Amino acid sequence: MVVSHSHRPGNTRNAPSASTIRLGILLATAFIFGIAVCSAFFMYQTHTLDPILSGSHLPHYHGNAAPLQEHIPRPGRGLRPPSRNAREEPNDGARPKTEERPTAASVPSSILDGQRILVTIASYDFMQLPHLEEVLDGFIDLCYAGSKVDVVVYTTVVYPVALIDMFNDRLRCNNPSPTAGFTLTLMLKHSRVRLHLVDFHRELFYDRLDQYDLFIYTEDDIRISPTTVAAYLHETRRVESLVGAEHAADFNVGIVRYEYDFPENVVITDKTRHATENVTRVYWEHIGKPPFEKSMDKIDDPALAPFYLTCRHPHQGMYLVTPALLRAWRDRGPNCQFDKVRDRPSNPRNPGQPTEGTQRVWMSSQMMFGGRHCAIKQLLPVDNFGQLTVLHLPNKNYRRVGKQGRLGGGDGAPKNEFSDGSEVFTPTHPDLLKGLEMHVAIKRQFPGPMGADVGDGGRYAGIRLVDTDISLNRVSKNHRANAKKRLDEYAAYVSRGGYLIDSDMDIDVDAYRIASSV
Ligand SMILES: *[C@@H]1O[C@H](CO)[C@@H](O)[C@H](O)[C@H]1NC(C)=O
Repeated sequence: MVVSHSHRPGNTRNAPSASTIRLGILLATAFIFGIAVCSAFFMYQTHTLDPILSGSHLPHYHGNAAPLQEHIPRPGRGLRPPSRNAREEPNDGARPKTEERPTAASVPSSILDGQRILVTIASYDFMQLPHLEEVLDGFIDLCYAGSKVDVVVYTTVVYPVALIDMFNDRLRCNNPSPTAGFTLTLMLKHSRVRLHLVDFHRELFYDRLDQYDLFIYTEDDIRISPTTVAAYLHETRRVESLVGAEHAADFNVGIVRYEYDFPENVVITDKTRHATENVTRVYWEHIGKPPFEKSMDKIDDPALAPFYLTCRHPHQGMYLVTPALLRAWRDRGPNCQFDKVRDRPSNPRNPGQPTEGTQRVWMSSQMMFGGRHCAIKQLLPVDNFGQLTVLHLPNKNYRRVGKQGRLGGGDGAPKNEFSDGSEVFTPTHPDLLKGLEMHVAIKRQFPGPMGADVGDGGRYAGIRLVDTDISLNRVSKNHRANAKKRLDEYAAYVSRGGYLIDSDMDIDVDAYRIASSV
């Protein structure tokens, strides 16, 4: 799969000659043959590694929790969450104290219980790996909250086996519920897709419309928690009940990103920790005060007006969406066509110049919310607002505000300074125990096959690395050997049923991220 909508500036059109037509027919035949070969290959993948391309819903691995099942307290027996009513309505004396307690059947299950959720994350390379780790933690939380979660990470770097093994341990969802689960698939893309890495999720969503209850597209630095997902589901149901299912397709419940405004000029250390005293969450993308004149708006629809507000600048970097909305937006007319991946709008005389934001802004927000496109109205709940705010993990963008060419920055504003690459960073203390170092140390002490990642049928059931698109011939020479070695090591790891051997553990924990891209 190559990005199908790349710019070809300077394309000229001439009338085709007979030889051009012959060549065209030849190419078309070759293309169809190519498709046949590729689909045969995909079919093969379907039955081997790639759960995402499989026709049926994914088998979910439940770790070693099955034998424990007997001891898990069930609703109505033993542990039980306090009923919401009991908490919210303190006994005022008018009610008999010995009110009947709810029976098992009347205890509602969690809003996240058994939800089938497909999450796609655009994560170009290892630059933001620490943030991606936090993001993945949010989705394993979602499995423990009861949902069946399939995560697909689009990446251009080959993850070494030791890192995959660490993630296998960290992201194993030992929730015994048969309707909970977690899988992670790393979809390898060629690095030359560049900014178009954000495009791939859309086709997957539409291919899988019938298999999930919720779809999430996000980047590798936005912390999404079970609360975010539960709040989205709750509000989406509320919108439907307020305006009806059909009109509800004109809206989508959104999110607002936040950061913490640590002082501009201070790194927090023991000596400067009091500088945290005034630090607070900031919605840095929504500047302009007072907010309800400059950055936020009320909703016109009378049924929604009391409960929701919207942002004038509805960039989110991510979105959540239900299959019903995806269907409605596919059929929403020529300006929308939400299922059709295409380039962000640009200056017709200069296609390199975006007019409404970059490709990632386009795919995550502008195509959905832009008035000239799908024109969906973003909704943020008045009373649960904070539950639909998400942490932008790099915590850096608030520093841009008011700088030249950035939000709130006029021509006379100070420049947004970038490093020229000559900066030398002081390394941290070598005694600090790194995550991967610790993982390898544990595995050296407890070696051998323990079957933690072997599912039903004795097959490897851990993280999938799917490399269907990668022809290593196109990879630069110095990266090729490294990439091939990692892919081979991964295949060997899978065929062993997923455990590390000595050569996998000889990883340089300080250097493995360099020169990893294909
Ligand atoms: C916090 O804000 C208060 C009020 O503006 C100010 O007096 C105080 O110096 C601030 N503290 C720090 C550490 O900046």
